Amino acid sequence: MAVQISPSILSADFARLADEAARVAGVADWLHVDVMDNHFVPNLTLGLPVVEALLKSVSTPVDCHLMIEDPDRWAVGYAEAGAKSVTIHAEAAKAPVRTLRAIRKEGARAGFALNPATAVDAYEDLLPEVDMLLLMTVEPGFGGQPFLDGVLPKIRRARQLVSKHGLEVWIQVDGGVADETIERCAEAGADVFVAGNAVYGRDDPAEAVRALRALAEG
Ligand code: DX5
Ligand code: ZN
Repeated sequence: MAVQISPSILSADFARLADEAARVAGVADWLHVDVMDNHFVPNLTLGLPVVEALLKSVSTPVDCHLMIEDPDRWAVGYAEAGAKSVTIHAEAAKAPVRTLRAIRKEGARAGFALNPATAVDAYEDLLPEVDMLLLMTVEPGFGGQPFLDGVLPKIRRARQLVSKHGLEVWIQVDGGVADETIERCAEAGADVFVAGNAVYGRDDPAEAVRALRALAEG
């Protein structure tokens, strides 16, 4: 799988989301949108109405990361609205198979996210239902946190499990991904890289995406 970069608008200017998205258009593969509900994580960002509006004004495919308590209720709405990828959390979903199937049925890619302390082996049987595994490399909730090296063995393990089953599941990493850490993630087997501060914290976000891609490609 080719390297893909998904800049997180969590680190962008929320008053100018469409303009911020345009700064990486044509360079980024995805636009990562962090939906937080102040229950699953101790932070509140935006919800379906804002994502619907954003989808109408951006050209880059949108990758929605739902850090919310009740993804089984909300996930399909993001797919219906036009998000090309919708990710739910293992720790929050009560009916992950039903929800992942509903996302796919709407024509979006179904993502399944694991917090740093959640083991991947427990979800081996679920892999055929999943298009992308998101391995959090920080505790979810905030941008700009330091990368957790302790997750690297889990990235390797996830890659092994995906290969063992002959699946094409993408492995996304999210949290603290930057020039200093992206090579380690790629070497461990990740192929989709979310970056907030390392893109929108820079003067030239497009150039930052190009640099991250070059490092991940090795
Ligand atoms: C954190 C979010 C991330 C966040 C990453 O809970 O899921 O997508 O934007 O930000 P950085 O890349 O700054 O760690
Ligand atoms: Zn995220």
